[in-house]
Amino acid sequence: MTHHLLTLKPFTTREIHQLLEDAKRFKAKEMYQFHEKLYVANLFFEPSTRTRNSFQMAEKKLGIEVFNVEVETSSVQKGETLYDTVRTLEAIGVKGFVIRHFKDNYFKEIEHMNQIAIFNAGDGCGHHPSQSLLDLFTIYEEFHTFEGLTVTIAGDIRHSRVARSNAEILTRLGAKVQFISPDAWKDEMNIYGTYVTMDEAIQTSDVFMLLRIQHERHDTKMSFTKESYHRAFGLTVEREKQLKPNCIIMHPAPINRDVEIADCLVECERSRIFKQIENGVYARMAMLKWGFEAIVGGEWK
Ligand code: CP
Repeated sequence: MTHHLLTLKPFTTREIHQLLEDAKRFKAKEMYQFHEKLYVANLFFEPSTRTRNSFQMAEKKLGIEVFNVEVETSSVQKGETLYDTVRTLEAIGVKGFVIRHFKDNYFKEIEHMNQIAIFNAGDGCGHHPSQSLLDLFTIYEEFHTFEGLTVTIAGDIRHSRVARSNAEILTRLGAKVQFISPDAWKDEMNIYGTYVTMDEAIQTSDVFMLLRIQHERHDTKMSFTKESYHRAFGLTVEREKQLKPNCIIMHPAPINRDVEIADCLVECERSRIFKQIENGVYARMAMLKWGFEAIVGGEWK
């Protein structure tokens, strides 16, 4: 049985609902205890504010000892491989690894290590399962179902691991996922949903999810100015007024204010952006519980 959480793809919809139920219990302050003292290393090869600190909070709430490995001052700088880094920390006694890496599928070189649990905190343009789970938790808290919801994901689809992870799992859970994107950033594979116009999206969405423009993953400079992007693909004040009454606004953040979303809408009534960040702690606690339960066991108190 695997105890790495690398993508949500291998999880059945029933297992996803179990993770959401656990996140709900953690949010309700129910206590859970592992059967062994656990040590986890957070290894971030790319910048992060939310994922890194949210995992750290989740680990601390679960009584886990945290090692925040500084990649910039570690022997990674001397050319040590990811496998050797993880193997070294495992030899020291670390049982779990939360890893963000710029390389798609970086975990392929370590996933055979079955005495540890690996939690993917984002791989290149690949997957971001903890973001997906917190997004699912936030949507489920709001609507108590995924069936029949229309979710629009707008922005830089091609370079977004959030779009990829969310489209796959939301579709499996019964939601209709649709996209808005400039042609240059459409996902060539177009597997999970169709592209719609802004007008169609505004009229039909129950969830309107904006994505950050991933400049760091672009080969060429974008042809838009901030203002022209906002006018064509952003959630403007005028568009927000036309959304369905119960439509919620989401964004994984960090946000480029007045680009993907108007500054004044970031904390408007229908925005769940900071709720997503709050829920991230509980979603990640549920992930850690799932991964370590298989190795050391544990129980609700
Ligand atoms: N949403 C997200 O992954 O944010 P960070 O890059 O700050 O972790």
